[in-house]
Amino acid sequence: MAKVDLTTKIGTLIFKNPVTVASGTFGSKDEYARYLNYERLGAIVTKTVTPKPRKGNQMPRIFETPSGMLNSIGLQNKGIDDFIENKIPYFKKIKTHLIVNIAGESIEDFVALAKKLDREKSVSALELNISCPNVKKGLEFCAKPELTYEVVKAVKDTTKLPFFTKLSPEAHDFLGVAEAAIKAGSDALSLINTIRGMAVDVEKCRPQLANVFGGLSGPAIRPIALRYLHEVKCEFDIPVMAMGGIMTAQDALEFLIAGAHLIAVGTANFVNPKATMEILGGIEGYMKRKGYASVNEVRGSLRIKEASEDRSVPAG
Ligand SMILES: Cc1cc2nc3c(=O)[nH]c(=O)nc-3n(C[C@H](O)[C@H](O)[C@H](O)COP(=O)(O)O)c2cc1C
Repeated sequence: MAKVDLTTKIGTLIFKNPVTVASGTFGSKDEYARYLNYERLGAIVTKTVTPKPRKGNQMPRIFETPSGMLNSIGLQNKGIDDFIENKIPYFKKIKTHLIVNIAGESIEDFVALAKKLDREKSVSALELNISCPNVKKGLEFCAKPELTYEVVKAVKDTTKLPFFTKLSPEAHDFLGVAEAAIKAGSDALSLINTIRGMAVDVEKCRPQLANVFGGLSGPAIRPIALRYLHEVKCEFDIPVMAMGGIMTAQDALEFLIAGAHLIAVGTANFVNPKATMEILGGIEGYMKRKGYASVNEVRGSLRIKEASEDRSVPAG
């Protein structure tokens, strides 16, 4: 059978396929290299990089829930200078797009990070993490559209690199924030970051996480992620990297059909380090079975109007 075309375009970037990884769930460099060939991914999205090294939050900072996990890692990383010196040379050799996720506590931080990465030829795009629920000012920039606009505009004025802005479902005016990011020049959006939750150890009568709250990820948040994707696609013409509980090809297809350009696999990597490859194979299999030649035909193929008709009970 003929090969299917998985090529996905966002602006000037051409991805060999739409499958990538969600920031912070795929190690910080080569941790997954013994399970899969990174070059088979459409892109690699890095763990968040900050201006200075961060130790992260106190342990325990991971807790498994019935349908996902709570994490309060707190953006542990060695900082941008270490990233440029020690990680970029590794990623440079891998023939796929490198998307560097960045976060700061101020607009100046974001600008400084963007400026440094702008000089790096092997970086294809940035992802602005303005939605981390586990650090002090993590949600500040996506709390209000005005603040989102300011930080996104400042990055836009700094770098020629295309970038995604990663949003939180916790923003009260979610669509307002999305609109602000788009108006300020974000080339694409990443939806969604984790949602704050909590768990209690009933024997010790204390929170399971040292930080009390942690971001919930995994299958539990998939319907929420899908809803936000759909809302954004109904309102705006903007490419989206979708994430939130994508564990299987079936899950990934839900997001593609709802209009996502890229599918980022997150929590699934902890359960099955080869999840991305299985998802990629599953998407190909689906396309062959359905007779799709290109993934562009799958993207946005959601048929809303027919939803009620399809479910009608046949008479008699
Ligand atoms: C352990 C862990 C660490 C994460 N670290 C980051 C991070 O550094 N930066 C970021 O933008 N998102 C981070 N995230 C959020 C994921 O990128 C993703 O948005 C979220 O987990 C939803 O996808 P999932 O349900 O497939 O995991 C992290 C998630 C987990 C579970």
